[in-house]
Amino acid sequence: MSSINHVAIIMDGNGRWANEKFRPRVWGHIRGSNVVTSIVAKASDLNLKALTLYAFSTENWSRPETEVSTLFKLLKKFLLKERASIKKNNIQFKIIGEISGLNPETQKLIEELEEDSASNTGLKLSFAFSYGGRAEIIRSVNQFIEKNPGQNITEKNLEANLYRPEAGDVDLLIRTGGDQRISNFLLWQISYSELFFTNTKWPDFKASELESIINKVSQRDRRFGSLDNDGSLDNTKKLLKEKNE
Ligand code: FPP
Repeated sequence: MSSINHVAIIMDGNGRWANEKFRPRVWGHIRGSNVVTSIVAKASDLNLKALTLYAFSTENWSRPETEVSTLFKLLKKFLLKERASIKKNNIQFKIIGEISGLNPETQKLIEELEEDSASNTGLKLSFAFSYGGRAEIIRSVNQFIEKNPGQNITEKNLEANLYRPEAGDVDLLIRTGGDQRISNFLLWQISYSELFFTNTKWPDFKASELESIINKVSQRDRRFGSLDNDGSLDNTKKLLKEKNE
């Protein structure tokens, strides 16, 4: 069994993929959204605990209006198309990010799917939409201050006020498309994450590549800053947990 529980993916390269084929950038997003379906299914088959996908960043609002509206439409289409299989496959769905800028119909679809899948016990699937890692941390701190005026915040409290604390720390962050950047994604949760950058552009990313990356990364020796352990991921996680308790 793999010790990778939470995988996060920066789905990059859609625009370049489309341009290479002399198509408009939005074509890449459309093809990319089909890939999302197969990757979610694979993550569920592999019994991952959590999968977090970067679908739209706070910075993406500055893209041309047609591109922004295509991404919104794809989100809506995904929600409509996938809600039956999300329920059937015991997946618990959530959006992380500020959805207040979306149209009311899409917000309602999101709320319904979040509610309907809340008691599911399988994969915790999160779409980061209108999401920024810094904004998530600031939001968490502000929520804490509001509830606990005058108190100092701890790591535990900060974590508890993130969008989806139950998804836990990220074990593996993958970025497709060849760039090696974090782009304001899950800044708190990736502190001890393994990073994997692939040149494959998102529309060409296959479920088999996800599996092979997970297998490769599972062989890495993660020490979480420590030296005095047997080097196995299970043991290092145990030590880290003990240290935090
Ligand atoms: C980055 O590619 C990708 C995005 C900004 C959006 C990712 C969205 C999807 C994969 C489809 C959305 C699917 C759903 C279900 C909501 P880029 O445009 O920055 O590519 P580039 O680096 O080649 O320009």
